[in-house]
Amino acid sequence: MENQDLQVLVADAKAALIGVPSKAQWEQIKATFLGPKGSLTQYAKRMGSIAKEDRPTFGKLLNQAKGEIEEIFQDRLVKLEELEDLKSLGPPIDPTLPSSPSFLGGIHPLTKTRRRIVSIFKKIGFTVAEASEVETEWFCFDALNTPDDHPARDEQDTLFFPSRSNWANVSRKNQESYLLRTHTSSVQIRTLLKEKPPLRVIAPGRCFRRDTVDATHSANFHQTEGLFVDHKVTVRDLKGVLDYFLKELFGDKVETRLRPSFFPFTEPSFEVDLKVPDLGKLSNKWIEIMGCGMVDPAVLNLVEIDPQEWNGFAFGLGIERVTMLLHGIDDIRHFYQNDQRFLSQFSSQV
Ligand code: DAH
Repeated sequence: MENQDLQVLVADAKAALIGVPSKAQWEQIKATFLGPKGSLTQYAKRMGSIAKEDRPTFGKLLNQAKGEIEEIFQDRLVKLEELEDLKSLGPPIDPTLPSSPSFLGGIHPLTKTRRRIVSIFKKIGFTVAEASEVETEWFCFDALNTPDDHPARDEQDTLFFPSRSNWANVSRKNQESYLLRTHTSSVQIRTLLKEKPPLRVIAPGRCFRRDTVDATHSANFHQTEGLFVDHKVTVRDLKGVLDYFLKELFGDKVETRLRPSFFPFTEPSFEVDLKVPDLGKLSNKWIEIMGCGMVDPAVLNLVEIDPQEWNGFAFGLGIERVTMLLHGIDDIRHFYQNDQRFLSQFSSQV
């Protein structure tokens, strides 16, 4: 009799757990069987009214039923936990659906300008030259005809590597005094020592100066150098190449002018100004854009190229400056802060 009743309880427990959706409900149902007021606990109270000799059998059956019921609840709990784990993984994955578009990132505006500049010069036969950002004083200044007392050679203007002073007694050629290059003009010398004229190279790269950072200055910036060496090159060739370049960059309506200037490694030297009708606040104003000039024969002599036979021109411009003019950017610091709000404005442009 007892056994039958207990088996009904076991069956009831099984039935009660069908379709239980949550651990909370499982707890509630468990209490109705195994809790202090649960049906099995109530049933156990019959022990008192049972004949002494039947009690061991009753107890055994009771424990057996309790074990079975506990096992039923435990199995169900494991299943519920599995279900909860699956739920936490989110909706099932449908591998047949197209994947969501991934954000590939964009090209940095300075890289874009550099690529544009390079591709413009490539069209007229220039190749790209590269050199190290760590340079010797000789390549950066001496070989470029830049005298000892030039301000760029001052500790205040250039980032020298330590121990410069230790070399005071060694001859200049062996000094190997290292610095972070202040301009890409040093690539002119590296190219002239490596390649035979005629040559046309463009040398974009990073440069460094001891500048205090503000809206127009950065201790780390980028330039593009250009060097053209051939027979009987004239200022007209220089102007023609730069006009072509600036028209490609700023549009056909650009006007340019060469203004006399001075650079130690070019003679004569010029600043190039340009005027563009549609350049925001700077529309129709003369703006200084780059430096240039005819390669000084002293530079050619130094690299053992005969200036009677070969001559040429060189130019240098700031990649930040060009990018700021092209896009109306008013603060150089935007380029280095990695702010997505700034950078993403350029991500769709090639
Ligand atoms: N190196 C110069 C600078 O950093 C720029 C420059 C001027 C380069 C005239 C040249 C040049 O090649 O001919 O200010």
